[in-house]
Amino acid sequence: MNILIINGPNLNLLGKRKPEVYGNESFESYFAKMKVDGVVLSYFQSNIEGEIIDAIQREGIDGIVLNAGAYTHTSIGIRDAIEAVDTPVVEVHISNVCNRESFRHTSYLTPVCVGSILGLGLKGYDLAIEYLKS
Ligand code: DQA
Repeated sequence: MNILIINGPNLNLLGKRKPEVYGNESFESYFAKMKVDGVVLSYFQSNIEGEIIDAIQREGIDGIVLNAGAYTHTSIGIRDAIEAVDTPVVEVHISNVCNRESFRHTSYLTPVCVGSILGLGLKGYDLAIEYLKS
């Protein structure tokens, strides 16, 4: 099973950016420790909306874990891409976006994802993978 983790804008700064919200660990360091039996995991990060859309459209992927960062709250293009492919997408946010500024309360992506995990830190990625595997 091939699962692709996609992180959107500014998530390349995890570990440095607002550690009180996003923690002290970079995603690269967390990803290096991730291991799930029977799953080939790959990771892609981009600050560019179109590159995230291209990644969602990749062939041969059985499931996607997507943290689209701020594009969650703005991008109809990413929403349309999720809707256009057959690959199931689980939305993940490290922080609980519902506890934060009101502009973060709206996700354009939630209605087209199979489910969403909010506020559970980096552990949310593992939980999303566990779901996709099952
Ligand atoms: C985030 C929440 C978004 O509102 C924010 O723009 C991010 C990170 C999260 O993982 O908590 O970049 O997606």
